[in-house]
Amino acid sequence: MAALIGRDLLGLADLSSTELQELLEMATQLKSQKLKLHCNKVLGLLFSKASTRTRVSFTVAMYQLGGQVIDLHPNVTQVSRGEPIQDTARVLDRYLDILAIRTFAQQDLETFANYAKIPVINALTDLEHPCQILADLLTIQERFGSLAGLTLTYVGDGNNVANSLMLGCALAGMNVRVAFPSGYAPDAEIVEKARTIAAGKTEVVLTQDAEAAAKDAQVLYTDVWASMGQETEADNRLPIFQPYQISQQLLGFADPEAIVLHCLPAHRGEEITDEVIEGSQSKVWDQAENRLHAQKALLASILGAK
Ligand code: CP
Ligand code: NVA
Repeated sequence: MAALIGRDLLGLADLSSTELQELLEMATQLKSQKLKLHCNKVLGLLFSKASTRTRVSFTVAMYQLGGQVIDLHPNVTQVSRGEPIQDTARVLDRYLDILAIRTFAQQDLETFANYAKIPVINALTDLEHPCQILADLLTIQERFGSLAGLTLTYVGDGNNVANSLMLGCALAGMNVRVAFPSGYAPDAEIVEKARTIAAGKTEVVLTQDAEAAAKDAQVLYTDVWASMGQETEADNRLPIFQPYQISQQLLGFADPEAIVLHCLPAHRGEEITDEVIEGSQSKVWDQAENRLHAQKALLASILGAK
């Protein structure tokens, strides 16, 4: 069983390939109820951005493990009134067993983790969304039996999800292609990190050509064109991103057995058509469900549930 006891998960590359594979195995066993784990601990959720899936799946995961959850929305804590992260972190550390944070700057998450001795999980920052990718890889593994050698193509904005996907695919031995409009590349340091992990064994390809990127891929993936915090740019981005929509036509370039993933929430008619997200190759609801199983495995592993 994966032993991540006491560890933070601030980015996906905090995991080794083996630890990632073991977490996915634990998630599979928890999902099928072959494995039942218990831990009577308290999880805090400190989310400065909206969330449906991450908030609810972490909460249900913790309840199913026998633990409890406190929702620490910034508006009902002193966070929104400017209490320094360093102080909030040292205080929450004295009450909670584990903390999941959704915020803007990765640096703020890292400051939190530096000042809190308890494990801190990245529940989405502007840079990364590692918990999402655990569920994505679980969904792909369920469909294809294993991950190594598969090709995932992400089309759209080089955002937090794209960044963590590159790392996750590299760790899982998958090829990853990211197709994005000029000026919207994924984070350069993460591209380098993913290429280092892939170490010439698999590909990390960046391109502006969505059709070439989609060719023969087993997984097509997209996300919103304007992430949380970029709302004012949304209208300007529409024409720039139009060639990067997952449509039935783009799906036609992929492997005939390909699946389509989207982390949700989706904007039908923008990054994905209604036809594709509702179509037979879409696995987005399984993907959303897998947030629960993957994060339950993560919590159990970090908290040493038995
Ligand atoms: N995919 C995802 O993280 O969804 P939420 O923003 O609803 O948590
Ligand atoms: N890239 C999106 C993901 C939402 C789950 C955002 O950050 O808003």
